[in-house]
Amino acid sequence: MRTQVGIVGAGPAGLLLSHLLALRGIDSVLVEMRSRAYCEARQRAGVLEDGSVRLLREAGVADRLDSQGLEHGGIYLQFAGERHHIDFRELTGGRTVTVYAQTEVVKDLIAKRLASGAAVHFDVTGTEVDELTSDRPVLRFTGADGVRHEISCDAIAGCDGFHGICRAAIPAELLTIRERDYPYAWLGILADVPPSTDELIYAHHHNGFALHSLRSLTVSRLYLQVEPDEQIGNWPDDRIWAELATRLGLPGSGWTLRRGPVLDKGITPMRSFVSAPMRYGRLFLAGDAAHIVPPTGAKGLNLAMADVAVLAPALDSLLHGDPALADAYSDTCLNRVWRSTHFSWWMTTMLHRTPEADEMEAELQLSQLRYVVSSRAAATSLAENYTGYSGPYRRTL
Ligand code: FAD
Ligand code: PHB
Repeated sequence: MRTQVGIVGAGPAGLLLSHLLALRGIDSVLVEMRSRAYCEARQRAGVLEDGSVRLLREAGVADRLDSQGLEHGGIYLQFAGERHHIDFRELTGGRTVTVYAQTEVVKDLIAKRLASGAAVHFDVTGTEVDELTSDRPVLRFTGADGVRHEISCDAIAGCDGFHGICRAAIPAELLTIRERDYPYAWLGILADVPPSTDELIYAHHHNGFALHSLRSLTVSRLYLQVEPDEQIGNWPDDRIWAELATRLGLPGSGWTLRRGPVLDKGITPMRSFVSAPMRYGRLFLAGDAAHIVPPTGAKGLNLAMADVAVLAPALDSLLHGDPALADAYSDTCLNRVWRSTHFSWWMTTMLHRTPEADEMEAELQLSQLRYVVSSRAAATSLAENYTGYSGPYRRTL
């Protein structure tokens, strides 16, 4: 079997890449180890940058995003018993973010790919990539029907997330890894209750960080900082709601947190990780396969989309005999990756309670928070990064 681009992983990166390549007349085969239902239900990110929304619109996959996405012109930062608004629109000359769940982005992309008859194989096992430094890299997998396939490709995209096989296929001595584990994790819940806020609340509290986000006008998404090795069994729903009410509460303000049935709950570790370069021969890594950020800056999904927006034209040129964009792919992406890595680290360390931090560190953290909400320059920097800073690079389909 033959295809132009073999793609491993049907997360946002792999699905969007497959679609962007199709718009350029390039065929691909996409393989995914999970079921379609699993991919469409996996609870993850919820905030799209300006540029990600534009990209989905230009790619013709934004009908539901445009009708159901909720445009937000800012966020709230809360600390020391006060809630402050950071007004993105005003600070950045009109830029916003859009609340639209990753599950919905994935559903829209899967529907689009399948409607156009694309080769998307769910429930595969035994995925392998081989001959990566040749002009004909090979993708092997066993389909849901038990049949083993070998596909000869012009290039392979490793969009298989942090635990995938593609990064591991690059000789370890060629990779430079930079990583940091944080001494806390996030406990996240999805709740069947209208949000108690119009925009996201990021709260710094003595008990730890809390975030009030949402999925729609009827479904809330909330997070609590917990111990890195915390077990979900220690957190019955009542304890979660009580702790959220404490950390998000504003005594004396009349604000209350609405409670409702918990639809989903889980614990996510917090990690920064960058693996470079993002290319080995004809294997190109994109999204979480190459880099992970802690979720505090809402960057993971947006970075995955930004990578494939660079990769699609790079592969197009490569397949037509011009390697310049493919040669620049890793550096182009890493520039943005490091900006988002810094921003996510900065938001994370500013807002979480560091276990065993001394009073000096606690005062420095509060000083930074007061600076962000009182200095226009500092607030603008947050707003510019949160809504998406793409640097000198301009996106093209
Ligand atoms: P993924 O979405 O991880 O997709 C990779 C795909 O590859 C998966 O479907 C996987 O099943 C498949 N795969 C893996 N190995 C193989 C194989 N061998 N063969 C075939 N298929 C394979 N970001 C935020 O901004 N906010 C959040 O709140 C947030 N929460 C998160 C919670 C969790 C638990 C995780 C893991 C991530 C979270 N993120 C969050 C990050 C964000 O969701 C990711 O950055 C985003 O999913 C990256 O997309 P991707 O396509 O690169 O990778
Ligand atoms: C989410 O809605 O899941 C979400 C929003 C903002 C973040 C992280 C997660 O920073």
